[in-house]
This record gives sequence, C-alpha cells and structure tokens, in this order.
Amino acid sequence: MCGIVGYIGTQPAYDILLQGLRRLEYRGYDSAGVALMKDDGSLNVYKATGKVANLELTASGKDTDGSIGIAHTRWATHGEPTDINAHPHLSQSGDIALVHNGTIENYAVLREALTQHGYTFKSETDTEVLVQLIEYIKEKNHCYLFDAVREALKQVEGAYAIAVIERGNPSRLIAARKSSPLVIGIGEGETFIASDATPIVGFTDKVIYLKDNEIAIVEQGKPLQIKSLNSNKPSSINIQKLQLSVAQLEKGGYDAFMLKEIFEQPNTLTDCIRGRIVDGGSRVVLSGVVENAEKFRYANRIIIVACGTSWHAALIGKRLIQEMCQLPVEVEYASEFRYGCPIITPRDIVVAISQSGETADTLAAIQLAKEKGAFVYGICNVVGASIPRNTDSGTYIHVGPEIGVASTKAFTGQVTVLTLLALCAGQIRGTVSTDTVRKIGRALINMPKTIKEVLKLNEPIKDLSRIFTYSHNFLYLGRGYNYPTALEGALKLKEISYIHAEGYPAAEMKHGPIALIDNEMPTVIIAPSDSLYDKIVSNVQQVKSRGGSVIAIVNKGNDSMNELADYCLQIPEVPECLTPIVSSIPLQLLAYYIAVNKGKDVDRPRNLAKSVTVE
Ligand code: G6P
Repeated sequence: MCGIVGYIGTQPAYDILLQGLRRLEYRGYDSAGVALMKDDGSLNVYKATGKVANLELTASGKDTDGSIGIAHTRWATHGEPTDINAHPHLSQSGDIALVHNGTIENYAVLREALTQHGYTFKSETDTEVLVQLIEYIKEKNHCYLFDAVREALKQVEGAYAIAVIERGNPSRLIAARKSSPLVIGIGEGETFIASDATPIVGFTDKVIYLKDNEIAIVEQGKPLQIKSLNSNKPSSINIQKLQLSVAQLEKGGYDAFMLKEIFEQPNTLTDCIRGRIVDGGSRVVLSGVVENAEKFRYANRIIIVACGTSWHAALIGKRLIQEMCQLPVEVEYASEFRYGCPIITPRDIVVAISQSGETADTLAAIQLAKEKGAFVYGICNVVGASIPRNTDSGTYIHVGPEIGVASTKAFTGQVTVLTLLALCAGQIRGTVSTDTVRKIGRALINMPKTIKEVLKLNEPIKDLSRIFTYSHNFLYLGRGYNYPTALEGALKLKEISYIHAEGYPAAEMKHGPIALIDNEMPTVIIAPSDSLYDKIVSNVQQVKSRGGSVIAIVNKGNDSMNELADYCLQIPEVPECLTPIVSSIPLQLLAYYIAVNKGKDVDRPRNLAKSVTVE
C-alpha cells in the first residue's frame, strides 16, 4: 500500500525514481509524486493524480535535475486521491520533503497540537502532519534533521516507512521504518531506498532490510549508518544478496503482467517443488517442517491466517492437512483472528500465508500468536519480507515476483506448498501412506506439463469471454476441494472486471443464491470427476432448470456434461486434492479476458493494491 523510492548518488535521480515508481505501482496508483534536489540545494516537487504516467506528463519539460530525490506512488487512506494529497509532502517552510507508506494513527491529535503552534495544513493526509512535526521539533530544539526525525517518530503511533530530504542539504537522506517495509540498496557511490527490492534490481544486488524502529542516515560519500529509534549506538548492518533479475520484472511480450503470470505457472510450479519431492515422488521434504518435526508431530491443532487470495489457498490447505495429517485445522481471516479473542496454546501451530509477506493484518496476527506461545510458520513469496523474518520457520513458494494485482501464480504456488506441507507433516505423524504420497508426489512432478495442457484452453476461453463480457452478475460453484476454487474464481472476476460475482459451496446454492438465477446470470461450476461429481451434476441440473446458463469445468473425456451445461472446459485429470491448482487456471483466464474485453486496466484494478500494509 503506497510505494516509496529514494535515491542519492551521482546519476540523475529523476529517471531512477520514475522507473522505481513504475515497478512499485502495484502498491497503489491513486497519485504519484517526486521531490528532487539539485546540487545547489534547491528543491523541485511534482505531483499528479492517477498513475505514474500522469506524473511523467506533469514533469515533462520541467526542471528535473538533481542526483538526490524521493518519490511516492499512493494508495489513498487519509484524504482523496488529489494532487494536494499526493506525496511528497512539504513542511510549512517548504524546506523538508517527506514520502510515507503507512498510517499515522494519532495524526488528529498531532495535527491539533501543531495547529495551536501556528502550523497550517494544505492536505488532509496523516503524512503532512509528520513532516510538519519534524519541522516543528527541528526549529524548537535547534537540532539536525536526523534528530528531529527521530524525535518526531517517537511521538507517532502507527505504521510508517519514510524517506526525508531537506532543502540545502543535497548529500543526505534519512529513512526509517516501523511495521511498513523498507529496503536499502547499496551501490557503487549510490544508495537506493524502496518499499521493496524491485526498484533496486539492475542497479545493485546488495540490500539491507531495515528493521522495525530503525533509522538510516544515508550520506553521499560516507558509509551508511543505521541507528535504533531509542539508542545512539549504531545497529549492525546485514547486507544480503538480492536474487531478482530485471527480466523477472518485465512483461516479456505479454499484454499484461497478469497474463504473463498465468502463463508462467508451468515454470513457477517447477521452481516451487524443486528439491522438495524426492525418492521418485514417494517422499516430501520441506525443510521448515522437517527441522521442526517435533512441533508437527505433537501439534494439537493448526490455525491458518491469511487475507484475500491467500485465505482461499488456506481453505484448501485446511482440507489437505486434515486429510493427510489427521489434525484439526482452523482458517481465519487475519483481520478477524487478531480481534476475535483467539484461544492459542503452545501446542498450536499458526501458519501465516501471504504472497507479499507484508500484509498488515497477517503480520499482526503472527505477533499475537507468538505472544501466546504458538509456533508460527510462514508461507510467503517475497524473499526477505517482514512475515518470513518474523516467523519461527517457513517455506517460500518461489514463484518469482508477482506484479499483477490479481494474484494468480502465487495462488497455485501456495496450494502447492500447502500440499507439500500436508504430505511432509503427514509422513512425520504417520498419518499418510507412502502410496498416497507417491501418487500425489508424482502428479505434482507432472504438474508443469499438466498446466501446459490447461493453458491450451486460452483461445477457447478468450472466445467464451466475449459471450459474458456484459453480464452483471456471476455465480461460481464448487464442492469439497473446489469450493475455495469457486471463491477464488469469483474474486478474480470482481477484482479486475468489476462484475459482481459470488462463490458458493454448490450444495448451499439451494439456501439462497438459487433465487438469483435467471437467464441473465451465468454460473461457473467446477465439476472434476472426483468423489463429489454426482452431487455436482445435480447442482448443474438445478441451475439449468431455472433458465441459468452454465459454464462447467470438467475433466478431459467427460463429454456427458456437454448435454447439460452450455459450455464445457475440459481439464486434465489429477488426484482430487490437486484439482484446485488445475481448475483455477481457466478461471484466471476467464476473468482476465472479460476484463480486457471491458477495456479495464487488468494489472492495476481500481481501488486495489497488491500489498495491503494498512489495517
Ligand atoms: C491484496 C491483494 C490480493 C492478496 C491480498 C493478500 O488484497 O490485492 O491479491 O491476495 O492482498 O495479500 P498477501 O500478500 O498477504 O497474500
């Protein structure tokens, strides 16, 4: 939620900052802005409502010189998406410029106090309060910018990642974080600051993940200094090697990142399972589980916390773990879990699933679980993000950067890792047979090929999408393992095409949604030939007999469904627990093409952000 970038070095900052903003745009695109300082210490600030491209237009032909600057792409929390509310925000004198990702919760109290001291505010944002507070402290205490920032942050409640520069001081940038991510890239004679590592890729592979309550002083020509908010003692600096390439961050010839990411799934799942299924498929080794075998052997219960698409993967994980481990599993929205007086005991394992590893509610749920003594296991994609750094152990899904806001390859990666976790823990607990492991293990090894087969449906789905582009409502039905797939299919459509869609357990349809069915409301039914197939056929009949049209996802060779459903998409047969991986892909494509037909910006759907770092 909101992306920030900072640069200090010898190159023109503007181009680097703009490229960084484009890479961070998935975090929000309500407005964008940049503050650049020239060598003579003068400051130029440009802002524009909307996407980064609008900022480029606004700044075009203007003075964009300077080799130090900060920039921001916004997902609005306090105040509408307007030029005035866009970052960077300036202090009253115009001397201090600040970009911020996060939420200052006590901003109203601080604003009131500053107003009493004669400060006036141009914007409605919480961020402007922080920059004014810094200036107020700096003037009152006659101190340096660093001390003023530090003092101001001590008075702030909430979450922040900030970058600050000061007019007249073109060789210094201050950055700090608490609960919102911030990465520092160390180049040759240049330093980068960013909300995640993507803006840094291609410039340097040396990165430092700032910890909570740390402040960095980045000074041109001097070594980086990091201090804690409460101590003057320098913190230790842990430089890590970045494993991302520029090619991974580009569209690679596809029209949209989402489409690229859908088509990447054969490769991403290869990466996801690499080295984890051994002995010809009959043994699963997930190091985070194996190293904590006792925890999994003696666990009383698993609680999975997640948000959005990750929560849908969690629902599939519940069934997988219950089936393979004979262990009760609860799935909670992280936001509900943390405020729901959860009963957690030291023999509970809390699994947190998050693509970004930065979702605020999931992070807070982890914190709570740790305080209550649970063993916390993370399933994340972004390497080095806050969740993997705050969990006791975990597994990366290794599907590479996911840039399209609507999650696709991360979902199939999460379900794959949950399958591996269930099998690995089941082996440790002695609750799953080697035959079952071998059957599923081999099917997983074969999954990249299977997905290539599914992707051949691309053209038929493109054609099908045209029939439904102007539908106003959609119903998605599935049972068992594919009830969460139905939820995920509906979410994909809502997110990018803005068509109202509901996912429902197929049998529950009779208890409400059936009233909505008419010839204008298409129903997508996920009906692989599994243990519940006969039941779902009855659900198809119930929809048809009320005049609804049905798009059915069935297994290859199931031609009998052609008699019943209006449109059938045939997918390869896999073991029942793996059907969500295979059946979710046609739903991703259907949502994608409907949104494209409607002319929507698929990668940047309105009001959404890829990484929700506020409550
Ligand atoms: C946002 C994104 C979703 C994502 C959810 C959870 O809503 O738009 O795609 O599923 O956050 O994010 P996480 O990074 O924790 O999986």
